[in-house]
Amino acid sequence: MATQVAEKNAAPRKSDATLEFELALEFVRVVEEAAVASAHTMGLGDRHKADKVATEAMRKCMDTVPMRGTIVIGEGERDEAPMLYIGEQVGAGWHDGSTFPQVDIAVDPLEGTNLCATGSPGAITVLAASEKGGLLNAPDCYMDKMVVGPSCKGAVDIDAPVSDNLKSIAQRLDREVKDLVVVVLDRPRHQKLIDDIRKAGARIQLITDGDLSAGIAAAVVGTGVHAVMGTGGAPEGVITAAAMRCLNGEMIARLIIDTPELEERIEKMGIKDKKKIYSAKDLAPGNHLVFAATGVTDGALMKGVRFFGEGTRTSSIVMTRHSRKVRFVDSIHLAKRPDVKVRFA
Ligand code: FBP
Repeated sequence: MATQVAEKNAAPRKSDATLEFELALEFVRVVEEAAVASAHTMGLGDRHKADKVATEAMRKCMDTVPMRGTIVIGEGERDEAPMLYIGEQVGAGWHDGSTFPQVDIAVDPLEGTNLCATGSPGAITVLAASEKGGLLNAPDCYMDKMVVGPSCKGAVDIDAPVSDNLKSIAQRLDREVKDLVVVVLDRPRHQKLIDDIRKAGARIQLITDGDLSAGIAAAVVGTGVHAVMGTGGAPEGVITAAAMRCLNGEMIARLIIDTPELEERIEKMGIKDKKKIYSAKDLAPGNHLVFAATGVTDGALMKGVRFFGEGTRTSSIVMTRHSRKVRFVDSIHLAKRPDVKVRFA
């Protein structure tokens, strides 16, 4: 007991505190660079190119960050991804034997590759970082997810009927079910979910991609989104969970393990209970967490990248869990011109 109290009161290790205090804005640089690179491909109809340039820019910038980073969620396994693969070491600290902090990193260099390729709203570049072991190494499979804001903590149950969850959410938000907006990925697998939500009387915003951004919107008051429901990517789920821990939002989730290959995979990863219901804290258990994202195209919380004569403007969000900061960062990346001018708005 005495040890537990001592551990609880102990000052965070310097390296963990450095992660939030010193690296948070470094990570903004990383997502900004990736956003600018992919924004150049916006609307070109080539989602692979959009993802590739975002990944390359993110990888290049990562190596200038004073850390010893390890990718725990990335573009895939080493043999299927040329960079930002799971297990890859990134950061300036690996090369010179420095004491830079060790950091686990989950990246989605371009979340919403189709959104960028078609010039549609909601594409972002995003990453989450934590002290070692602070992010679940989730397999690249699907995950059942439910995301709600701080007022709805403890009000939802992934196994409860949709109508019950909606009633609980409405009650917590002091409104009627008919005034709720639930975001759902527009996929045939969601037809029953969509029918159930409609039957319960709530409104639905169908999105073609991007349940990660939608999850963040659900946890921020005033976005007009009250919940996200349905099945999406597990890697995106872990990054959403990191955001929820910074925003005090709620997420409950369950991996969808439906093939023998996946079963084998999760066993190898040390996940024993394939039916486990995860909370945001299970998915992103880190004490020190950083979440950073930049808009590529316009979204609920961030504007997309804007190119103009004097340079490029980006809009980002960076959040830290332990130091409890949510920063909206509006950056102007000035053109290299002798007569360059900065405009306020
Ligand atoms: P990409 O950015 O990889 O194109 O995918 C985005 C996304 O829509 C996620 O937001 C979501 O979790 C997942 O894909 C859903 O997967 P699927 O398209 O297979 O339904």
